[in-house]
Order: sequence, then structure tokens, then C-alpha cells
Amino acid sequence: MSYYQDHQAAFVEGLKAFLRIPSISALTEHKPDIRRAAEFARDELKSAGLAAELIEGDGNPLVYAEWLGAPGKPTVLFYGHYDVQPPDPLDEWKSEPFEPAIRGNDIFARGAADDKGQVYLQIKAVEGILKTTGKLPVNVKFLLEGEEETGGEHIETYVKTRPPKLKSDAAVICDTEMFAPEMPTICVGLRGLVYGELAVEGANHDLHSGIYGGAAPNPIQAIAEILAALKDRDGHIHIPGFYDRVVPPSEKERAAWARLPFDEKEYTEKEMGARELVGESLPVFERVWARPTFEVHGIRGGFVGEGAKTVIPARAVAKISTRLVGDQRCSEAAEQLAKAIDAVKPRGVKVEFKVLHTGEPSLTDPDNKYIQAGAEAMKQVFGKDTVYIRSGGSIPIVGVFDQYLGVPSVMMGFGLPDDNLHAPNEKFHLPNFFRGIESIARYLEILGE
Ligand code: BES
Ligand code: MN
Ligand code: MN
Repeated sequence: MSYYQDHQAAFVEGLKAFLRIPSISALTEHKPDIRRAAEFARDELKSAGLAAELIEGDGNPLVYAEWLGAPGKPTVLFYGHYDVQPPDPLDEWKSEPFEPAIRGNDIFARGAADDKGQVYLQIKAVEGILKTTGKLPVNVKFLLEGEEETGGEHIETYVKTRPPKLKSDAAVICDTEMFAPEMPTICVGLRGLVYGELAVEGANHDLHSGIYGGAAPNPIQAIAEILAALKDRDGHIHIPGFYDRVVPPSEKERAAWARLPFDEKEYTEKEMGARELVGESLPVFERVWARPTFEVHGIRGGFVGEGAKTVIPARAVAKISTRLVGDQRCSEAAEQLAKAIDAVKPRGVKVEFKVLHTGEPSLTDPDNKYIQAGAEAMKQVFGKDTVYIRSGGSIPIVGVFDQYLGVPSVMMGFGLPDDNLHAPNEKFHLPNFFRGIESIARYLEILGE
């Protein structure tokens, strides 16, 4: 293990270099940075001792690498994403988003936890074993993508062709969070996602609200009515058929969740910074891990400038999404949602719903031997029993790996609940970075035994 101790400073420097590349997949002006980040990851994999290359296609390059010198041993496929979310709102960052800063035990930068820090720790784990022993206990492949945060289809299209290159026994994904500091965690369930845009048109130009108010259709009012009709005050979603394929958690899982240390007040007021929780009358974990959602993310339209302007806007747009669980599937849920919107839309407006992004939900059996080995590796490194949780977030590739490669995903995440993913001041806890490296190394050793 001493390679890992001796190289901690070098690992942090390497991570900083990775974090300095603003590989924002949502913004086209960052295309060159996307390529730089892909090349950076490829070069790191090469110098770790793997054969590495970029796989070019329609979208951002995939990074593929392999080390296959352990015939007869299992093959592990590491997945991660080198793209990041946009950094805004910029003025809320305490240091520059793309100039990593260490404060206390945390490294602050966009992508620190989601997902560059966690991609990098996978690479360093493999590097450590290769540099010290000249070989790996199992066969290892890497597949990194640069479109996870924008829903690009490149990786899905590629994986769906079932390339022989990706043949493996299990995928290992470090892109989730630990339940709490010091608590090694494996995530065994993710929600799916249907994300879309609702475009509403009333008149063909803005109207004086005094002259026409009372007779003119108002697109923002229409959006409000649609949203209110689709989800009630108790958090119940009114989309016909929507709950038909929701699968409730088993009694065993419910009981395990109830045993997790949890302070609802702290979760609400400290972690979320909110006044109180809303939603269905169910335990919190069930609400955020095992129930579907319907949310509005933003509404654009009308007048929000300084002072007053009495206008009835001609157009408005809302970004909306639903998270899916159990046996819900994107295509059916998207259809149900589109139909429900159509059924509740008020008269006088034209409403168009366009799906922008989807990902299927996934559940993995914690008894799977590759998951058990992960739990054991983390237990040994952290010195505490590993807990199994689900997450409300989405990682679409997990469902694709399951369906097209037939491999389970072992989600060993080293983020923390207060890492500010997608938000200002994203960070990664450095002790978790180091323990993550050692956990992955230990995992490979256990699999090789
Ligand atoms: N790594 C996150 C998902 C995540 C975060 C899962 C924390 C579990 C715990 C991923 O990068 C992400 O942000 N996913 C998006 C969906 C994606 C399809 C744009 C999400 O969940 O909103
Ligand atoms: Mn991620
Ligand atoms: Mn993300």
C-alpha cells in the first residue's frame, strides 16, 4: 500500500490538472476542452500502463483502455465521465471553478466529485498495482464518456452494438455518494429520467394586459395550470397509468433504510437549507429513492425586468422532468406525460412537449458477488461495515450495461452529501479520494483471489 501513501501529493497534482480543463459538455464553445479532457484521461491511462485510445463517433470522444494480462480471471469494466456541468452562478463560488483550491481537507472545483475526482481515483488505483507488481490481479477495461451531463447518445449507441471490446463480468462506477462521512456505501438503485421542454403559445404577439386582459389566453398561466394539474399539494402525480409500474421496496430494504442514521431536521435545514420537507406521506428515503417525481426546473417568458410592464406574453417555455422507478420505462412514461399534458391544457393556447433527455431506472441485487466483493473492499479500507442505499439521481448507462452487456454495475461512490454536485463550490473530500483509490485497489485484489 505504500505506493499510494508515497504518491498522495502527486495524485492531488494530477487531479488538479484534470480539474483545470473546463470540459463543459453543455456548451459548444468548450468542444476543444472536451477533447483535451479526453486526451488527458487517455494519456493518464497510458502512463498507468494500459493500452488506451479515443473512440471517435458522432459526439464527444469515448476513452477506452484495457489491460488483459490475467487470462482466466474476471474482467472489470470501469466507467466514468470526464465532462462536467456548467459552473454558474459564478459569483457564488468562493474560488474559481476551474482553478482547484484546497481548503481544509477538501478540493474545490467543478467536477471534483462529479465525476473527475472519481474517475481519476480509479485510474490511480490501477496505476498503483501495475507500477508496484507489474501486473493486475484481474483484467481491466475503462470506458469513459464526455456527454453524461448533457444526455449525449454516443456511449449508448456504442454500447448497444455490444462491441466485443466491452465484454466483461462487472462494471464499476464511481459516480455516486456515500450515505455519510466515514460510512462506506454501495448504491444499488438509481431512478430513471424523462426530461423535456414545454413550449406554450397564446397570441402571436405580446398584448396590452389592460386592453386584452380577460379575453386573451396567457401562456404562463397555462403552464401554471398544467403543472398544478399534474402534481397535487400532497406530492401525488396525476398522470394516468404513471404509477402502474412502480415497484415498492421490499420489507427487508425498508427495514435497512430505517436503520440508517438519519436526522430529518439536519437533513432539511443543514443539508438542504430548506424550511420543511414536502411530498407524499412516506419515509423520506422512500420518497427520494423509490418514488417517481414530477418537477419543474425553470420557466421562461413574459416580463421580469425592473418596474412594471403590463403585458400578456405571447409565449412561454417550461423545463420539466419526471424521475422513474421500478418497472417504469422512459418511452411509456414520456407518452403518458405527453397525453396528460394534452388532456389538462387550458383552451386558447398551443402546447408542444418535446423530450430532450431520457435514462432508464436501475436496480442491482446486493447479493451479487461483484457487489459483495466491493462491500468487503470498502469495509477493509474504511474499517466499517458497508451500507447499501439507493440514490434518487440517474446514471443512464447502468441500465444499458445491464440490458446490452448483461453486467451488473457496482456503484462504489466516494462523494459526500454536501459535495455540492452541479452547484457552486463543488468539492471532493480528499480523505475519500485516497480511500477511494485504496478501495478500488483492494477490490481488484479480492476479485483476483
Ligand atoms: N453522478 C450524477 C448522478 C448521481 C449523483 C447519482 C449522486 C447518484 C448520486 C450524474 O452525473 C448526474 O448528474 N446525472 C443526472 C442525469 C443525467 C442523465 C443528466 C441527474 O441525475 O440529474
Ligand atoms: Mn456524475
Ligand atoms: Mn452530474
